[in-house]
Amino acid sequence: MTRKPSADSRINAEDIRRRKGGVPIVCLTAYTYPVARLLDPHVDLLLVGDSVAMVLHGHATTLGASPEMMIAHGQAVMRGSTRACVVVDMPAGSYEDSPEQAAASARRIVGETGCQAVKLEGGVDMAAQIAAIVAEGIPVMGHIGLQPQSVEKDGGYRIKGRTEENIAALFRDAEAVEKAGAFSVVIEGTMEAVAAKLTRHISTPTIGIGASADCDGQILVIDDMVGITVDRVPKFVKEYANLRGVIADAAARYAAEVRSRAFPGPDHIFTTASSKDET
Ligand code: KIV
Repeated sequence: MTRKPSADSRINAEDIRRRKGGVPIVCLTAYTYPVARLLDPHVDLLLVGDSVAMVLHGHATTLGASPEMMIAHGQAVMRGSTRACVVVDMPAGSYEDSPEQAAASARRIVGETGCQAVKLEGGVDMAAQIAAIVAEGIPVMGHIGLQPQSVEKDGGYRIKGRTEENIAALFRDAEAVEKAGAFSVVIEGTMEAVAAKLTRHISTPTIGIGASADCDGQILVIDDMVGITVDRVPKFVKEYANLRGVIADAAARYAAEVRSRAFPGPDHIFTTASSKDET
């Protein structure tokens, strides 16, 4: 089934921009049709993050994401949602070389998914790319602080904002993203007081992850939030459910019932007396 939202029924990037300083903006990542359907009534924004490369595809870093991967998941999330603002991450290698490359990649992602906006990582170094995409009429979400696409270069997942020099760089990045026209900016893995100050310093709504409750909104990776992540869960994650346990328990009970021939039972088979044509 394809669900077709009317173009104006969704929350859009300008709606998000207007939420600066207001009721916190609720964001989660989503990568699939069923999860998008479940989350859509509860959130303002769904991010098809390049974390999908790690979370669903088992890559070691987000560098495993490709434009095709992001587009396929973006299409699934668009099919599964009618209300939330859908933002698709631009994968590493699709935008850094030049503003022209960034604009062409953003046009392709929006053209093939119908998403409301794209996200890219970087501050001062990517301001020209953000401005070029915005000039195409495509809203951009920035991403500063800990930038997962740069962890190999940075030597690991390191918290930002611990030194005066780094704090000054974060302020320059935030100002550059604001000036380039981003409608919002993710602040990831940054000292709480610094993230709070950045939020007060710029007019662009900030979306925190491992940052501060004072940010204008919050985001978590959905698989972390529902407790299905099987590898390391970062300190900043709060697990609101334990789906690892639910799935392991269901699998164990199914396995036992298959082995004992208790499944399929009378309700799950077709007999001449009770069968209809439909499953
Ligand atoms: O890729 C992603 O999931 C992200 C969020 C963690 C912000 O960038």
